[in-house]
Amino acid sequence: MRHPIIAGNWKMHLGRVDEALAFVRRIRYRLNEIEGVERVLCPPFTVLAAVAEVLRPTHIGLGAQTMHWEDHGAYTGEISPAMLTGLCQYVILGHSERRTGRVAFPPPPAPPPGEEGAEVSVESDAAVNRKVHAALAYGITPIICVGENLAQNEAGQTDEFVGGQVRAALAGLTAQQAEQCVIAYEPLWAIGTGKAATPVDANRVIGLTIRGAIAGMFGEAAAQAVRVQYGGSVNVENVAAFMAMPEVDGALVGGASLKPDFVELVRRAAPAR
Ligand code: PGA
Repeated sequence: MRHPIIAGNWKMHLGRVDEALAFVRRIRYRLNEIEGVERVLCPPFTVLAAVAEVLRPTHIGLGAQTMHWEDHGAYTGEISPAMLTGLCQYVILGHSERRTGRVAFPPPPAPPPGEEGAEVSVESDAAVNRKVHAALAYGITPIICVGENLAQNEAGQTDEFVGGQVRAALAGLTAQQAEQCVIAYEPLWAIGTGKAATPVDANRVIGLTIRGAIAGMFGEAAAQAVRVQYGGSVNVENVAAFMAMPEVDGALVGGASLKPDFVELVRRAAPAR
């Protein structure tokens, strides 16, 4: 049995200590009471320590939104796994807003002359893979985002592209390590658009493509053990339909995790008792 997991990705919101604490204090006890589902908040770095403090009396998990793979070094502005350990239990890796360079400069900058073909993605498949290894080495659970864009979806390339992202992210792990990862299937066209994938489509990609890729690398037992979330315009109204799908083990929630009715969203994701 896979334990469901709902994570709220705050992105670049509620990053001042006063506003973050006001929100968390408002939801934490009601969120904490919900049984049968792991619940995780992923605020900006600036408030992680403060939020960790107010979550201390609860079972609510805390996650970062990215991290570097090195312990320390000349990486201006980066945060390392060594800095997060003891503070966070989770880290989101390979979010599409980072993979596509959206966080750096929209649209992604063209490579400098002579470096055409060089990596312009901020968080490449290779970087995600290093980060996954680093997170696991520090006992931090990676939430690894994968997903196709609209053109790939319409061209029927979803399975090939998403399968490739999964294989790249998990390369070099043992089956036991792979089983500790959480994967979030987030089709890019569904993120922040209010246009979620259908539960049936999400279930198919997660079951066939994502678990299929894991089975090919680590065997069927590992494929059945890994938890896979759906993400992209999940809200209080549609979360139950996703959770009713046998392959969907939870949700990665953006916009709807910033409102107090995130508590109700998580309640609707919890198994009926
Ligand atoms: P959304 O974002 O729920 O606002 O669509 C999801 C995500 O980017 O993780």
